Amino acid sequence: MAKKRILTGDRSTGKLHLGHYVGSIANRLRLQDEYEMFLIIADLHMLTTKQTREDIAAAPQNIRDQVLDQLAAGIDPEKVTFYVQSAVKEIYQLNLIFEMLVTVPRLSRLPSLKDMARNAHIEEDQMPFGLLGYPVLQAGDILLPRANLVPVGKDNEAHVEITREIARRFNFLYGEVFPIPDVMVPEVGTLPGTDGQGKMSKSLGNAIWLADDAKTVEQKVRGMYTDPNRVRADIPGKVEGNPVFMYHDAFNPNIEEVDDLKDRYRLGKVGDVEVKRKLAAAINNFLEPQRERRATFEARPGFIDEIIHEGNRRMRAVAEETVRMVEAAMGLTYFRDQKA
Ligand code: TRP
Repeated sequence: MAKKRILTGDRSTGKLHLGHYVGSIANRLRLQDEYEMFLIIADLHMLTTKQTREDIAAAPQNIRDQVLDQLAAGIDPEKVTFYVQSAVKEIYQLNLIFEMLVTVPRLSRLPSLKDMARNAHIEEDQMPFGLLGYPVLQAGDILLPRANLVPVGKDNEAHVEITREIARRFNFLYGEVFPIPDVMVPEVGTLPGTDGQGKMSKSLGNAIWLADDAKTVEQKVRGMYTDPNRVRADIPGKVEGNPVFMYHDAFNPNIEEVDDLKDRYRLGKVGDVEVKRKLAAAINNFLEPQRERRATFEARPGFIDEIIHEGNRRMRAVAEETVRMVEAAMGLTYFRDQKA
């Protein structure tokens, strides 16, 4: 039996950090054998908030970095199709057709769009048409390979719901073309930044990158935010909500060591230096196999670009098939070519 399909991915924001690993990469690694997986790098979605020449010029290197990080993390390019959204032109076609199948009020109510507008410093009455259409374009991404399952973060759950509505509406009007895709939201808590202020993110400058070397990791961990009330090592400290221990839980497989550190921390019997030294070692152990894989890929010039081109080709074949099915179902097939 054919494997079910997954479509998921990221905007073209560049290299990935530990928060991405916990929130999505780990899940992709787990699912890549069981499903036929398509990983989009959504550079057109990036245009909804960043559309200058400079923004666009930064995209190719961002895309390479994102693919390399995922390969280094263990995503297998033989099994998974990486592709660049703007390189598969059928998305523009599906996007326009889907725009007819959803209402403006339905989109305007989405809190995610307001959040994105706010983060991009866009006033409420200055909402770009394309940003309002963000979830419609995303529905196009998901339905272009006729995906069955969409792993996303909590903030994107509503977009998959819109996708399901669009798929149902299309099937109702024109006949069954699309599966109604299921959403999968991993239950992991979000990883805080090294500064303990909100989640790990590029814009806050509080990230540990998957590509960081061992020295950089040590340095960042040494500077991490812990329990601000614990001004001396012999004062009892708070473990819950303490980023250093949240990272220990996420990256230190030595449960005994972690439990011992937590016990002593609560009693005021361990210094931050020891807790952090052991954390840096755990994170470096976790990243070391990724560094080795990264080095083998970096030793092959042009390899990443080849993976992307090959993925684009694979995706185009699937996309052409879907658009053929869509146009046939709609009867949108007239005046196509002139036979002599
Ligand atoms: N919206 C996703 C994000 O914020 C990126 C994305 C674009 C996506 N198209 C998608 C995710 C399709 C899942 C499926 O990162």
